[in-house]
Amino acid sequence: MVWFLRRFFKNKENSIEPVDGAIPQHVAIIMDGNGRWASHRGLPRTAGHHAGMVALRRTIRSADELGIKVLTVYAFSTENWSRPKREVDFLMRLPKEFLRTDLPELIEKNVKVVMVGSADGLPRHTREAVDEAMAATAQNTGMILNFALNYGSRAEIIHAMRDIAAKSASGLISPGDIDEQTVDNHLYTADLPDPDLLIRPSGEIRLSNFLLWQLAYAELWFTDVYWPDFDRRHLLEAIEAYQNRDRRFGGIKL
Ligand code: FPP
Repeated sequence: MVWFLRRFFKNKENSIEPVDGAIPQHVAIIMDGNGRWASHRGLPRTAGHHAGMVALRRTIRSADELGIKVLTVYAFSTENWSRPKREVDFLMRLPKEFLRTDLPELIEKNVKVVMVGSADGLPRHTREAVDEAMAATAQNTGMILNFALNYGSRAEIIHAMRDIAAKSASGLISPGDIDEQTVDNHLYTADLPDPDLLIRPSGEIRLSNFLLWQLAYAELWFTDVYWPDFDRRHLLEAIEAYQNRDRRFGGIKL
């Protein structure tokens, strides 16, 4: 109990905050469980996605307040196109709906919006909404909010390999000089640090083609909570678990 009290205190909003320990610089989240959240309530899957958008808003606010530098959220995968058209159409409208209401707050909070994934494959209205948010926040210097949209890690790696192969064929890169940094520089995430912490709600314990290269040394944290129910307490739980991990990056502690 004493340990618990020393480690935590109540902040002004009466929520539990970690007092000490490192905050992960880059947190990546697979926002999973929207469909099951909805079907447990007898609601259409789209209602789950809408509730997922509200959970995203909460999480962005908490992440920003906690000093997280980069928040990457898996909003739509290259595999999600196989869902019924009605659901895909709904998901493709969400970025516009979210940014219509939340962009002013993101601007005010100095958040910079970026995107990873293939923008070419998105409907025009989705791409325009994201482009507008990226342009409006391009000069911001606070937390980076990175939407993974039409994103698949294998597609990203293929894209990078093609770029590198083309540069190699034209003599710009010598094959023997290709190293980890070269690959990093050709991924969609070239400008971002690797995630320190991956969070996946909904009880699924897998990566689902998300940031496979970049998560090489991330700490992984899973919870049974469905994404629409995810809140500040769960984020803090994940961060506390992260703080208790011993990150050795393949080395040993001397
Ligand atoms: C996976 O849950 C979730 C998605 C494919 C969509 C995630 C999108 C949101 C949380 C809304 C994001 C909002 C913006 C602004 C982009 P699932 O549908 O696979 O759930 P299930 O596994 O329970 O069926």
